[in-house]
Amino acid sequence: MNALHRTWEKLISQTLTEAEQMPKRWRPGFHIAPPVGWLNDPNGLCQYKGVYHAFYQYSPFEEKGGLKFWAHCTSTDLLHWKLENIPLSPDQPYDCHGVYSGSAVIEDDHMYLYYTGNVKELGDYDYINQGRQANTVRAVSLDGIHFDRKELLLTNADYPMDLTCHVRDPKVWKKNGRWYMVQGARAKEDQGVVLLFTSGDGVKWFCTHRLKSPKPFGFMWECPDLYEVDGHTVLSISPQGVEADGLKYNNVYQSVTTFLDGDFRTTSVSGEFRELDGGFDFYAPQTFETEDGRRIEIGWMGMADVDAFYTNRTVEDGWQHVLTLPRELSVKDGVLCQSPIRELDAYWTAEQSFENDFAGMMGKAFEIELSDGNKLEENVKITLAEYLWLTWNSKEQIFRMEFKDKLLGSGRTMRGRKMTRLTDMRVIVDASCVEVFLNGGKDVFSTRFYPDGEEIEVTVSAPGAKGRLRM
Ligand code: FRU
Repeated sequence: MNALHRTWEKLISQTLTEAEQMPKRWRPGFHIAPPVGWLNDPNGLCQYKGVYHAFYQYSPFEEKGGLKFWAHCTSTDLLHWKLENIPLSPDQPYDCHGVYSGSAVIEDDHMYLYYTGNVKELGDYDYINQGRQANTVRAVSLDGIHFDRKELLLTNADYPMDLTCHVRDPKVWKKNGRWYMVQGARAKEDQGVVLLFTSGDGVKWFCTHRLKSPKPFGFMWECPDLYEVDGHTVLSISPQGVEADGLKYNNVYQSVTTFLDGDFRTTSVSGEFRELDGGFDFYAPQTFETEDGRRIEIGWMGMADVDAFYTNRTVEDGWQHVLTLPRELSVKDGVLCQSPIRELDAYWTAEQSFENDFAGMMGKAFEIELSDGNKLEENVKITLAEYLWLTWNSKEQIFRMEFKDKLLGSGRTMRGRKMTRLTDMRVIVDASCVEVFLNGGKDVFSTRFYPDGEEIEVTVSAPGAKGRLRM
């Protein structure tokens, strides 16, 4: 391990000790949150020798973001996470301005981490076409805890000539004995694209194909992922530069998926994208396959460049952002669905049933479930902490997540989606995190919120529905 990494570790451990004194209001129980500082994208998700590993983009010294490290958590149930030592720090000439996003592959008992080494050259550059290096780097671990032997695999000279310097976020997997990798990129004509690479050994890579849409859909595609669910090949991307379109694409940046029709090594993208999450706080999701064969997705429950619109009050306490609850993916009726991981069922220790409506005070973490097995009646309204309203009615057929005051949502206003039916609903609350799963996970809305006090007031009005509260 190099001397600079050891120095970073010392500085980070001092920062962690100092942060122990900070207030703990709004710290979630089962969502991954940074102990202090800033978190963004999930990275390197995997299960290794039975243990789940989640890494994330981490700025330990600045709660508003800065130099990026990877942080590392482990778990045996995807809900109780243990913070491990910093696995990757900017300690090499090829990653000195940030260890950017990437992924993990398990092969022959080794855990390989692939990431983008970010370098910003000093000078008068636009940092789009010049002045920025995006290096593809690999590190390896023999025990899933200690990471070493960083290897520089690709530099900008190895990427196609018609791209800007923006190429990043390697997602690597193995299929039928071959290695594959996708990276997100910005082409010079300001179009987001995904590059597909293949390799025989995971070290020497060749860019063989490009996935793009017939018409530009944003100028940059970040954090690509390509995976199979229920016989469908899914391409997931986080585009920048997509214009709002009615209720769609209202966030600063988006995260969307599309099904690939045909072989991912030769095909292209039809242009039919669907937003993964209709709420305020969701970006840069990544998936992995569990040892029992489930495809699990975790997203960043946050967003870059939102400060002009809304913020997070945890900044007052020295930290910012969380990862979403892990979500199980499936395809139903031709739609990619996200459901809370089944492990959550065993997390709750008490439950209470109700019919039609409910009003009461709940603790910091709970779940509200509504169903009638067929279709909820005309009008559904749930309020959390008085001012966060979740509503749907059969006349308008729009589901709304709406903050009725500025403080609770810290500036968040309204997000909505056209939905002709509402058959069921799960609302999962964990201190400052709210995730709403609708229609068997076909529609999902995530947001942060900042209720005062130890209890959260809940009202439910859903004529005809059966309800269950779990805590
Ligand atoms: C997405 C992203 C990635 C990049 C990382 C840097 O949020 O911009 O493209 O690798 O964050 O933290």
